[in-house]
Amino acid sequence: MDFKQLFKQISPEELGGAFNVFTLMGFFLVTAGKIEHYNSMVCSGGAIGLHFKKPAVWCIFQSARYTLELIQKEKTYTLSWFPDEYKKQLLFLGSKSGRDSEKMKEIKLTSIQTPCANMSFEEAKLIIECSLTQITTANADDFYSQESKDYLKEAYKDPKEIRKYVFGQITNIWIKK
Ligand SMILES: Cc1cc2nc3c(=O)[nH]c(=O)nc-3n(C[C@H](O)[C@H](O)[C@H](O)COP(=O)(O)O)c2cc1C
Repeated sequence: MDFKQLFKQISPEELGGAFNVFTLMGFFLVTAGKIEHYNSMVCSGGAIGLHFKKPAVWCIFQSARYTLELIQKEKTYTLSWFPDEYKKQLLFLGSKSGRDSEKMKEIKLTSIQTPCANMSFEEAKLIIECSLTQITTANADDFYSQESKDYLKEAYKDPKEIRKYVFGQITNIWIKK
């Protein structure tokens, strides 16, 4: 189906009126890549706000995520939110890596291309398109609570667990018509 038949564009200023950003950032899908090859994973945590005066989102990725690799390659990505009935499908995308599985072929969601050729799904109720602006590594020494320091020091014994803070400028926001 044509993207603009399903979704209408809203401004960043309208987002807070339509959705609670604290609830939003608790559970969502991140998708990177183009129609020929794309990949999605579940994320929890992050923020929507302003970064260098521009509407932005940031999320935390473990460095081994295949989706992160595609974000770095393409420099664009989408964040998508779904009605509760799709929770099982989202959890599936958070259960194995697209690097060594065919999860994007197995998933029971209908992929759709945005007008900017980014990927999301027809079933989404909200899609935020982003352009990559910054990736920062979270170092344990930069944290000021002992709990965070201890948590990261333990996690970082495995290099795949290194946390990357990924910032993206919001380029478009779409909600289901
Ligand atoms: C509820 C839930 C929340 C998750 N949140 C994150 C997260 O914030 N950051 C992260 O790197 N991985 C998170 N994951 C794990 C990834 O979604 C999971 O490892 C996924 O298989 C990675 O896929 P990929 O390698 O194809 O990108 C979460 C998983 C679940 C089930």
